[in-house]
Amino acid sequence: MIIKAKNVIIKIENGKIAQVGNDLLKGALNVYDVSQYTIIPGIIDMHCHLREPGFEYKEDINSGIESALNGGIVGICPMANTNPVNDNIFILNKMIEKADKKIGFFPICAVTNSLYGDTLTDLKKLKENGAIAFSDDGKPILNKELFKNALKSGELIISHCEDETNEVKWQLEMLNEVGGKLHFAHISKKESVDLIREAKRNGIKVTCETAPHYFTFNKDDLNKDLFKNGVYKMNPPLGTKEDMEAIINGLLDGTIDVIATDHAPHSKDEKLKDYNHSPNGIVGFETAIGAVLSRFSSDLLVEKMALNPAKILNLKDFNDLKIGSYANLTIIDENKIWKVDEEKFKSKCKVSPFNGIEFKGKAVGTIINGKLNMIKCCEDK
Ligand code: DOR
Ligand code: ZN
Repeated sequence: MIIKAKNVIIKIENGKIAQVGNDLLKGALNVYDVSQYTIIPGIIDMHCHLREPGFEYKEDINSGIESALNGGIVGICPMANTNPVNDNIFILNKMIEKADKKIGFFPICAVTNSLYGDTLTDLKKLKENGAIAFSDDGKPILNKELFKNALKSGELIISHCEDETNEVKWQLEMLNEVGGKLHFAHISKKESVDLIREAKRNGIKVTCETAPHYFTFNKDDLNKDLFKNGVYKMNPPLGTKEDMEAIINGLLDGTIDVIATDHAPHSKDEKLKDYNHSPNGIVGFETAIGAVLSRFSSDLLVEKMALNPAKILNLKDFNDLKIGSYANLTIIDENKIWKVDEEKFKSKCKVSPFNGIEFKGKAVGTIINGKLNMIKCCEDK
């Protein structure tokens, strides 16, 4: 199959990119013309929650994958805070089986058994069975000795920090001391951005991510409509306007490597409670690309949501739009003006703080292992 896009023409054979160029069309059969759109390396969301097993009423693996694909995402990394927790190969294998190769599926297993924070899981065995990284996301790791041993495993440890400044600080010091691979999840505060910038300047090899809500909203967005405030509740919570600006600057100057959604669905009933009673977490698969493209360039989108995640997760040839690599790609319309309509989400969670926001830029298709799927477009303006 040959796909003709605005920026590139590619030939796909056996799920891989066989040729890239402008002279592929002569006499070619099976040409798919999407020349009004742009093909980019496939978007990988390296932080999400799919809720299966245990909380399928919020989301399940299938609805989560449908939601990701509808948002133009071709690779996802579900976190381990399911019930039972994804801390063993039985659950891990079951999840991979359920995903059924419909998307790049790279589970993140727990660092500690049951996410209790006191005993390391069998990182090596889990890695051999398909775990891409390890995290107790949802809970910070407070045991310093255990954290040190996790780093010493050499596996990628994704750290959820709650008291961001304090935890980021000691974990960076420990990384400097023992080495290893450390990535900070959902950075949202100015102090953390400053600490990580400083660490990188000092040569410490660390990476981090933020999420679209942290550069789109801040605390001032609360209170406008008291009853809707639960919709803005996530952990870590929205920061101040200064925090939001620091996140934007951190993305622009390279301190923040990745944008991940932290897609964390709950039922509508749960989310529509007031701020104190709504659970932490908002959905993000179907709004991420629009949120990024509305504020940043498509180059930044590619860097923070495709190339850097692949690099950090060591996913060689997965999505890089090069000859010989797998054809896992995203198709975007950079100029499409559209309005978020939560009712149209494929996620089971049809409530989002982005609802009603007008975005410029949208995912219009995905190519997964060479298979093209155009997205039925949401509400056109
Ligand atoms: O908002 C959040 N929701 N933050 C987390 O760290 C966990 C997540 C969840 O599982 O709902
Ligand atoms: Zn999370």
